[in-house]
Amino acid sequence: MPVYEGVIDRYREYLPVSDATPNVAMGEGNTPLVKSRSIGPELGCDLYFKLEGMNPTGSFKDRGMCMAIAKALEDGKTRVMCASTGNTSASASAYAGRYGMEAIILVPAGEIALGKLAQAMAYGARILAVRGNFDDALEIVLRATTEMDIALVNSVNPYRIQGQKTAAFEIVDELGDAPDMLSIPVGNAGNITAYWWGFKEYWEAEHSRTLPRMMGFQAEGASPIVQGKRIENPETIATAIRIGNPANWENAEEARDASKGAIDSVTDAEIIDTYLRLARDEGIFCEPASAASVAGLLKVAANGEDLEGQTIVSVITGNGLKDPSTAESTARVELEYVEPNYDTVMGLLSNGNGRSH
Ligand code: F0G
Repeated sequence: MPVYEGVIDRYREYLPVSDATPNVAMGEGNTPLVKSRSIGPELGCDLYFKLEGMNPTGSFKDRGMCMAIAKALEDGKTRVMCASTGNTSASASAYAGRYGMEAIILVPAGEIALGKLAQAMAYGARILAVRGNFDDALEIVLRATTEMDIALVNSVNPYRIQGQKTAAFEIVDELGDAPDMLSIPVGNAGNITAYWWGFKEYWEAEHSRTLPRMMGFQAEGASPIVQGKRIENPETIATAIRIGNPANWENAEEARDASKGAIDSVTDAEIIDTYLRLARDEGIFCEPASAASVAGLLKVAANGEDLEGQTIVSVITGNGLKDPSTAESTARVELEYVEPNYDTVMGLLSNGNGRSH
């Protein structure tokens, strides 16, 4: 088995790189595809989780960020900039620092998960907390990067999508074909676009016989594509996808229509139920936004669609450790404080009172 440094050297023949492109790598990609033990059997399908939270900064963003940073370096840039609900900025900060560049990140003040902010601080980014939402921040970044010599590393940067499509390649390489269905959370809509392009490219290269139906899920309070209109004040507990005007809107619709898929929404309650179920029944601790892909699948099944016998992959986009406060506030597990004394512990345990669910 060859040892790859990251997605650029593993999939170089499918990426817009040349000998002049630095091999920017931090071990991204090659993430586990884990079979479901509870939800899949319940739905009668072969359900797999693609654990993108296993990437070096804890989210799928690293796949595209290594490409964006490589191309920025090739282009002689010394600074990169992005707007972010947290994960893009964590990834940009990590790769920029590693390759000697400055990262300037704009995040919605008070609306990014603690772990993501901690990452950006530790990686040494310059952090502008915008008193507004992601869409406001992105508008500023789009303008600033046309006026100043700074590389834009949001997913409107085409190299981001190119890198991210490698996740689709890995799924096909591992399953031996494309799944029947891919379920995925949708925020700025870059990732659903990337997977669709990846599946199509691999199918055209005859690595797969089929193409999956692309099933995207937005949070109900931040569901512009589902509602067919820009949302001025998006709201959801899943802050990663709290976006009212996705940059890749049209590409997401194209993926939906060309694959005979769907883009639907799930409520915050459905997201949290699934988030806790994934942790408790599957051992998978993800971000609330990531749980939207599985919550959506459960909704599709509840609406009467027969998933029996299908092979389905749900993309688990980010690691649960990113957002400790949501775990604490939703799991509501009381700690049982106890004196450091064997008999007291034994006394507590013999009183029964198991887990709180
Ligand atoms: N899941 C997580 C954990 C995310 O961080 C994001 C997007 C998505 C899903 C949605 O992906 O935007 O490609 O449709 N996060 C971006 C960010 C917006 O700034 O980190 P998308």
